[in-house]
Amino acid sequence: MELGNKVIDEAVQGSATLLADTDKTNNKKVYIESYGCQMNFSDSEIVASILAESGYGTTNNLEEADVVLVNTCSIREKAEQTVRQRLTVFNKEKKKKPELVIGVLGCMAERLKSQLLEEEKIVDIVVGPDAYRDLPNLVAQVDEGKKAVNVILSKEETYGDISPVRLLSNGVTAFISITRGCDNMCTFCVVPFTRGRERSRNPESILKEAQDLFDRGYREVTLLGQNVDSYLWYGTEGLKKYYENLSEEEKAQSINFAQLMEKVAQISPKLRVRFSTSHPKDMTDEFLHVMAKYDNICNYIHLPFQSGSNRILEMMNRGYTREWYMDRIDSIRKIVPDCSISADIIAGFCSETEEDHQDTLSLMDYVKYDFSYMFNYSERPNTQAQRKFKDDVPQEVKSRRLQEIIDKQSTHSLERNQAYVGKTFEVLVEKKSKRSDNELAGRTSQNTVVVFPKENYKVGDYVTVYIEDCTGGTLLGRAI
Ligand code: 5AD
Ligand code: SF4
Repeated sequence: MELGNKVIDEAVQGSATLLADTDKTNNKKVYIESYGCQMNFSDSEIVASILAESGYGTTNNLEEADVVLVNTCSIREKAEQTVRQRLTVFNKEKKKKPELVIGVLGCMAERLKSQLLEEEKIVDIVVGPDAYRDLPNLVAQVDEGKKAVNVILSKEETYGDISPVRLLSNGVTAFISITRGCDNMCTFCVVPFTRGRERSRNPESILKEAQDLFDRGYREVTLLGQNVDSYLWYGTEGLKKYYENLSEEEKAQSINFAQLMEKVAQISPKLRVRFSTSHPKDMTDEFLHVMAKYDNICNYIHLPFQSGSNRILEMMNRGYTREWYMDRIDSIRKIVPDCSISADIIAGFCSETEEDHQDTLSLMDYVKYDFSYMFNYSERPNTQAQRKFKDDVPQEVKSRRLQEIIDKQSTHSLERNQAYVGKTFEVLVEKKSKRSDNELAGRTSQNTVVVFPKENYKVGDYVTVYIEDCTGGTLLGRAI
């Protein structure tokens, strides 16, 4: 995902990730494209690992693929349209090569189930997010001439024992998923239906994966979950229990997100740790104190607020008020003073008035986010909002409000970046800059992209950079 204030529509967020070639252990090759959230990109690495066990290599060349998989997103309608366009392209390829197997993974698979197989007949395999271990069997079924589907959601599956194949990796940064599913039931959101109930992964497997990445030269891990703050381990894999409901024994051995974070941070001061996504109703001061204690926990929090209006927040079932959210922001500013903050914002939710919209704008003014992901509300089938409320804000009103949100964010992003000019930051180098081979690009702890002349530095180095100039999305500097 790119940084900077940006309307993340799927054209941006869901740009296809083509997978790099890996060792080929049989003659069959899989080509995977991923759309949507970071969790999907992380899941595709798990899928590649499961298929590698059965001898499949990966390819970034569609024409040499035996199996094409598309890991899909259902969060907004546009995301699904993008995937459908890709399926048309893959079906054209199949006309040329009838033995090509086409599979849909992830949220669209879970949402549409066998519809894509039986009614639309545009795929051979449909696999939901908890059924990836079944993929080798499902591909074999198709090879025998059957269509294959597994969309069973699990209460236990965390893929904790699977060591992901790092795809398109820069060898420096990697994702580690720590929870799956979501129990929050925000009324606008399909995720609880497509990804199922919340489960936390065994901390030992998380720590082992992080340690292993560090030993292999990685210098940054991002802990992923729909709501990382609700991570809770109490000894058994499976359906989330809440702390109040634990037995004394479970309480004694429980590990919450703050404690997990501390353990990951202790692996090495040279391993940066990031996390996403935080939830305002669950983010604790205990966690913020852990952040403040360790320099290698990056000073950046993605804290979606969705709307600044209490009436809309209630309708969204977000579990907090505007005042609660502002209190969380005050705590961040107090405990982790140089922390950058980003948000997700939805314009034009059901019944949103101009006054509600002004509340969103004024909350933005209060926080002055470093950047935001900003969306028009998109009604999703079978969500509570679709069943209970009317999607009654006209499209042109939604778009105008979204534009006002974007304009405000652009101003704030530029102001934030201008305040970094003249300061010095430690940058972890991730890649060559897009503009020039003589420049490197990396990020500050605050997650802002920095571009600077290469000199003798290389990818994976920590470099102290003096910031000389900026744009809305990028800082420009030189190593000192
Ligand atoms: N319409 C628009 N945006 C949505 N999001 C989730 N569901 C919808 C929807 N139906 C946004 C929220 C969430 C982000 C991942 O996507 O802002 O935080
Ligand atoms: Fe969706 Fe809300 Fe869960 Fe985020 S916290 S995945 S918006 S239900």
